[in-house]
Amino acid sequence: MSGADSITITRPDDWHVHLRDGAMLRDVLPFTARQFARAIVMPNLSPPVTDTASATAYRERIMAALAPGLDFTPLMTCYLTDDTDADDLARGAAGGVFAAAKLYPANATTNSARGVSDIRRIYPVLARMEAEGIVLSVHGEVTDPEVDVFDREAEFIERHLRAIVGDFPQLKVVFEHITTQEAVNFVLASGANVAATITPQHLHINRNAMLVGGIRPHAYCLPVAKRETHRLALRKAATSGHSCFFLGTDSAPHLRAAKESACGCAGIFNAPFALENYCAVFDEEGALDRLENFASLNGAAFYGLPVNQSTVTLERAEVAVPAMLRAAGEEIVPFHAGETLGWRLVP
Ligand code: NCD
Ligand code: ZN
Repeated sequence: MSGADSITITRPDDWHVHLRDGAMLRDVLPFTARQFARAIVMPNLSPPVTDTASATAYRERIMAALAPGLDFTPLMTCYLTDDTDADDLARGAAGGVFAAAKLYPANATTNSARGVSDIRRIYPVLARMEAEGIVLSVHGEVTDPEVDVFDREAEFIERHLRAIVGDFPQLKVVFEHITTQEAVNFVLASGANVAATITPQHLHINRNAMLVGGIRPHAYCLPVAKRETHRLALRKAATSGHSCFFLGTDSAPHLRAAKESACGCAGIFNAPFALENYCAVFDEEGALDRLENFASLNGAAFYGLPVNQSTVTLERAEVAVPAMLRAAGEEIVPFHAGETLGWRLVP
């Protein structure tokens, strides 16, 4: 298959995306819906989506923003806090509102101030999730100011994730947007209940992209890109076809002004060409025949959802990424802005 000039795969899903709300939602949603049949929608709005009622309302706003004729299903997540009501979460999951619950360590990333202050505090909720089969989605970084930002993911494994997985062996855990060899090793060494999403940016760039030749805020996201050895480990994991690794873009749109600032926001807006970006990686690694596992099969299997019926085709063709797009009436800079990509999603 490698070396082919086009590839047709089952329509993929995005198992981690930030769609935002209001005018931003309206303008970024078409990019995701163009490529993906379903997406796990992250709940870090302001205020966050912390219960069934607010998730139901958010899902309705997403459906209302969806252009007619687009076949897209948002899968909602519950933002865990110190005060999460396990009964409400269980009802929301049983009622088909929640596909997962998201653990943000408090202050780990954008809009995580109401996240969990001490994981022990949500142990009763995790026990309930384990019993009910509700997927736990984890932003795996410690927030301890003593820990170097490049070490925060690896440290989270040792301080927290090993304990969670050990204490709740039946709990399904998605280690989101992994960025390190340590995370790859941890997931591979865990059982079938532990999986990880991998973003396009962490397959494409290392930390030099952010810091060499000037500081480049559009290459900054959390977890921050690491050194090259880690990027290579992620590419090997994603293209292995192994069922524990699947596609999650972590597309996280922020307006240009909020990124190009003395204190720029974390997040890379990769939704416009996410699939093209992943396809290029699989092509470069001689693994186009495993793109479907990563993009369309592994995530659905882990979440216990049916595989999509339709297909998408990508072809080898030059695609120019605009230097700038408009969102919410302002400028927004996409991943790979101004560059030319080698794969195109056939409309
Ligand atoms: C995300 C955002 O902006 O919502 N930012 C990011 O850098 N990935 C939050 C997150 O997933 O950490
Ligand atoms: Zn995210």
